[in-house]
Amino acid sequence: MGELRGTHVPVLLERCLELLAPALGRNGRTVHVDATLGLAGHAEAVLEAHPNTVLIGLDRDTEALAHARVRLARFADRVHLEHAVYDELPEVLDRLGYPAIDGALFDLGVSSLQLDAADRGFAYAQDAPLDMRMDQTRGVTAEEVVNTYSHPELARVLRVYGEEKFAGRIASAIIRERERARITSSARLAELVRESIPAPARRTGGHPAKRTFQALRIEVNRELAALESALPAALDKLTVGGRLVVLSYHSLEDRLTKHALADRVRSTGPIDLPVELPGSGPTFRLLSRGAELPGEAEVAANPRAASVRLRAAERIDPNAAQQGRTDRERYRRRVKAMHQPGTATTGSGADPAPPGDGSGTDEEGEGT
Ligand SMILES: C[S@@+](CC[C@H](N)C(=O)[O-])C[C@H]1O[C@@H](n2cnc3c(N)ncnc32)[C@H](O)[C@@H]1O
Repeated sequence: MGELRGTHVPVLLERCLELLAPALGRNGRTVHVDATLGLAGHAEAVLEAHPNTVLIGLDRDTEALAHARVRLARFADRVHLEHAVYDELPEVLDRLGYPAIDGALFDLGVSSLQLDAADRGFAYAQDAPLDMRMDQTRGVTAEEVVNTYSHPELARVLRVYGEEKFAGRIASAIIRERERARITSSARLAELVRESIPAPARRTGGHPAKRTFQALRIEVNRELAALESALPAALDKLTVGGRLVVLSYHSLEDRLTKHALADRVRSTGPIDLPVELPGSGPTFRLLSRGAELPGEAEVAANPRAASVRLRAAERIDPNAAQQGRTDRERYRRRVKAMHQPGTATTGSGADPAPPGDGSGTDEEGEGT
């Protein structure tokens, strides 16, 4: 293991601890999953704050796990560190003998260890072989993607995962260049992207290669597919009162998180029934209103926090879904009042929000 490169300041650490505390600080042993262990900044703080908590830490990056193992050595008797992709969580829990968990944290994306590593190819700002695999023991590299995908495949990856307006132009430039010589370095790719973007666009929105590098990283690591199955799996494992916190760094991750939570916080029963049918009430309540953003002080101290969006939820007892029922009754009264002339309503004149819909999750813009 090499010396630790760069420093990693855990993002929104105090807020994560505050959100997890009611679930992890309960009586008896509690179990916390850090699905993206990284350099174990969040994990260490959780273990310090909760002496009765067992930590299960997952990371697909063996180098991150090695650093985390050193950092967490003093907690070794209540820590399990696993080399796994987070969508393997159910199998990991089965193998370790934990049928349920009390807390889960997903701090998505790359770590500063990966970004700062000169040899891993994640950063457009420094030259390196085009690898970008978080798990260097398996999978295809960014070099293979860039040199073998067809024009439509490349353009789709850049457009969908990078939200890149000039995806077609960049894909054409890549194809032209690789006919001349195989593209093997991050610096060459970053230069190609810069050259393919119209000059006025180069001057806005940060480095022109940022979106292309993000897109390739997501494709290489199949990040969204893993997240799409990992979030429901983690939610399923939470005990009543158990809590999930997710930190996303781009709108695609945040959108997936928003929908995974919205699915659980809404009632599935008919809207016009006065009471919830058994089993149709919400199974979670949101702990964040929309997506929480970092404060100015945090961004000033930790630039990596600038794009973070936090969402969190708590499992509730579906059979005691009093909250959902109360919301429904209040909603029904408001609807009725709106149809009775001269009766005061919400005062805004707007339609009342339906109950159990995720408290503003669906009506807000993507990534907000
Ligand atoms: C932002 S870092 C986490 C930093 C960590 N919270 C800390 O305080 O040090 C994200 C980590 O998640 C890992 N990771 C990303 N996607 C993953 C996945 N699908 N499965 C497992 N680990 C993943 C990365 O390898 C990286 O080490």
